[in-house]
Amino acid sequence: MTGPAQIVILGASGDLTARKLVPALASLSADGTPKEGFSVVGVARRPKPDEQFRAELREAMPEALRPAFDGMAARVGYQQADVSKPEDLEALSTRLDTLPGGGDAGRLFYLALKPSLFAPTVAQLAAAGLVDMRPAHVPAFRRVVVEKPFGHDLVSARALNEALHHLLLEEQIYRIDHYLGKETVQNLLGFRFHNAIFEPLWNRHHVELVQITVAESIGVEHGRARYYDTTGALRDMLQNHMLQVLALVAMEPPASLDPEAIRDQKVSVLRGLHCPDPTDAARSSVRARYAAGEIDDHAVGGYLDEEGVPEGSNTETYVALRAEIDTWRWSGVPFLLRHGKRLPKKVTEVRVQFRTPPLQLFNRPDGLSDAEFRRSLSDGTLCQIRPNVLTLTIQPREAIRLSFGVKTPGSAMVMTPAQLSFDYRDHFGEAPAPAYERLLLDAMLGDPTLFLRADEIEASWRYADEVLEAWQEAGVPMREYRAGTWGPDEAQDLFYGCEGGWSRG
Ligand code: BG6
Repeated sequence: MTGPAQIVILGASGDLTARKLVPALASLSADGTPKEGFSVVGVARRPKPDEQFRAELREAMPEALRPAFDGMAARVGYQQADVSKPEDLEALSTRLDTLPGGGDAGRLFYLALKPSLFAPTVAQLAAAGLVDMRPAHVPAFRRVVVEKPFGHDLVSARALNEALHHLLLEEQIYRIDHYLGKETVQNLLGFRFHNAIFEPLWNRHHVELVQITVAESIGVEHGRARYYDTTGALRDMLQNHMLQVLALVAMEPPASLDPEAIRDQKVSVLRGLHCPDPTDAARSSVRARYAAGEIDDHAVGGYLDEEGVPEGSNTETYVALRAEIDTWRWSGVPFLLRHGKRLPKKVTEVRVQFRTPPLQLFNRPDGLSDAEFRRSLSDGTLCQIRPNVLTLTIQPREAIRLSFGVKTPGSAMVMTPAQLSFDYRDHFGEAPAPAYERLLLDAMLGDPTLFLRADEIEASWRYADEVLEAWQEAGVPMREYRAGTWGPDEAQDLFYGCEGGWSRG
C-alpha cells in the first residue's frame, strides 16, 4: 500500500458488519495499522445518514472498543445503494472519489451479503467500472473479499469461481475462512516448521491418530435454524474450517512462506483425502442431531423444536468422521474429525496421538506372568501405557500441551501421566487479536496466505460432496444426542483398531 485504502462493505446493515468487521477495523485503526490508514463506506439499500450509521455501529460495539471507534468514526460513512441500479453505483463511485486517495486509492470490496448475491454483485460492480481485472499489487488495487459459504457443493462453488474469474484475476479474490485468522491456527504452521524436534515424528510411523474437535455449546437459536437447516454440520463447519485445520496439520513443509507455496501444500492434502464409498461411510462416519437436554444447568430444547426448523428435517447438527489421507506421510493414519452444536462447551483443539512403545515395561504388578499381564491389559483390569499426546488448543484458551509419563516417587517402577504446557495468554500477557482483524489487515496489504484459493475450495467440496453422497447411498442413520453431552455413543466406534477415545476438551 502506498496511500490510504478504501473499504467498501456491501451488506453493511447485517450482523457481520456490526459484530465483527467494524470492531476489527476500529481496533486496527487504534493500533495505527496499516500505517497508510483507511476509510470505510457501508453500503446497503435503506437510506440512512452517516451519523445514524455511526451511532448504530457504536451502539453495537463492545464497550472497550468504543474509544477506538470514536477515533475512526470520521472516516466511516454510509452510502445507500441498490447494486442492481447503475445510477446507485455511479453515486457510490462519486462518493469513493471524494475519499482520501480518490480513484487512485486501493479499494477493498467486502461482500457481507447473501451467497446468492456474490456473483451478481461483482458483475454489477464490474459493469459500473468499480472493479476490473488488474494485478492485485498495484497501488490502486481492486480486491474483493468473499464471505462464506463459498458455494453449497462442488458444482455451485465451481460456478461461482468461474463467474468471478470472468471479471477478476484469482489474485484479486480473497475468500474468507475466519478460522485461518485465528492466531493458534496460524501457529500450526510456525509450530510444525520452526521446531525441528516434531517434524521427524509427524508421520504414519509415529503418529497413531489425529483428533480434531470443534465443539460448540450454542445451538441454532435466534432464528438461525432456517438457514442452518439447508446446510448442516458437515457443510457449515467440516467442509471449511475443519478441513483447513486438517490441511495445516497434515501438509508437507512449503519451500518458502510465499502464499502460493503454502496453499499448494494445503491443496495436496485436501486432494489426498480419501473419498469414502458407501460401505466406508457407514463404518467411518456418524451423523446426529441434538435432542432436548441441559447446558450449564439450563434446560435447552432439541433441534427439531428450534424456531424455523421444518417438519421432517434431516439435517445433522453433529458429525464425526474417520478421514484418511492417501499420501506417503499419512497413509493409514485416521484423522478423527468431530463437530457438534449443543455439546457441553466450546472448544476447538487438535490432538496428535503418538504410538505407544512396542513393549510395556512399566506398571506391571509383581508376580504377574507375561500372559497374565497381557490379558489384564486387554480386558482393562490394568491400565495400559498412556500414549504421548500433543494437544493444540485453538479456543477458548490458546494453549499447547504435551503429555508424557514420569516415574512416581518410590521404590516401584510406576509411571504416571504428566504434561508440559504453554498458554498463549500467560506467556504473552494478552489474548490474541480476533481473527477478522488479521484477515482485514492482510486483505488491505495484499497478502492472500490466509485466504482460500479456488482450487482449495473445490478440493474441500469434492470431499464433502462425496461424504454426503455416500451417506445417502448407504442410508447412514441420523442418531440423536442429548444437548449438553459429547454426542452419540456410536461416535466412539470410529476408534476401531486404535487406542483411546474422544477428548472431553
Ligand atoms: C461459522 C459457522 O462459520 O463458524 C457457525 O457458520 C459457527 O455455525 C461459527 O458457530 C463458529 O466460529 P467460532 O469462531 O466461534 O468458532
